[in-house]
Amino acid sequence: MLRGDSENQLVRTFRPRRRRLGAEMDDVYQRLIDRWSIDEDGDRFHPREVFGDASTTILEIGCGRGDLVVSYARGHRNDSLMAIDVHTRGIANILAGIEAHGLVNVRVVEGDAQVFVGRLAPGSIDEIWVFFPDPWPKARHRNRRLLRDDLIGALTRPLKVGGVLRLATDSADYARWAASAIGNSGRFSEPIGERPVWRIETVFERRAREEGRATIDVRWTRVAADD
Ligand SMILES: C[S@@+](CC[C@H](N)C(=O)[O-])C[C@H]1O[C@@H](n2cnc3c(N)ncnc32)[C@H](O)[C@@H]1O
Repeated sequence: MLRGDSENQLVRTFRPRRRRLGAEMDDVYQRLIDRWSIDEDGDRFHPREVFGDASTTILEIGCGRGDLVVSYARGHRNDSLMAIDVHTRGIANILAGIEAHGLVNVRVVEGDAQVFVGRLAPGSIDEIWVFFPDPWPKARHRNRRLLRDDLIGALTRPLKVGGVLRLATDSADYARWAASAIGNSGRFSEPIGERPVWRIETVFERRAREEGRATIDVRWTRVAADD
């Protein structure tokens, strides 16, 4: 866990928002959150305690509205997904998808990934997805980026050797920055540029496309365990 100025403060990688859920989504949230969520903080655990022996276990960090989580989980019912975001609206949206499509292979985590990764047993995850992370384009905000040197180790500790870290971004600067941090960690293969066929266009990607920015998809395979 990376602490900021004071002992108890994490360097935030997200923009705080306070938007209320409408009555319908609030009802969904209240009815389903306890059944389908995992706490951000708590004892160490292995995802098999929640999912049993899934073929592939995935963590999406910063799932936003969660449209990809729902779409992927519908098409890959033997895979298991944990989707984390700090924003309640996206969490509620995923809960609605779980109910509408009878999904049993998804859990939501409402909170900060920097905290949650500390709960996951090392080597317990097959894939980590970071799709359209907040770009923090200003130089003085770059220390808030998720895929940065001093956070890569902690964020990817749960990823098994042979597991895959995926990034999609509309910021060439972010892609370069992340590639450098991931390369510096010494734990990953060379990057491979490849858009997964199942990665649907999210709201963020559509907005970037409409504003003329192309998406860069990259994946790295973990080749070394932690010391
Ligand atoms: C630009 S949005 C992209 C959302 C989604 N991946 C998409 O493609 O539409 C980035 C998301 O990452 C979330 N995020 C940023 N830092 C996070 C953290 N440390 N833990 C959990 N979520 C985080 C933000 O709250 C935001 O919803």
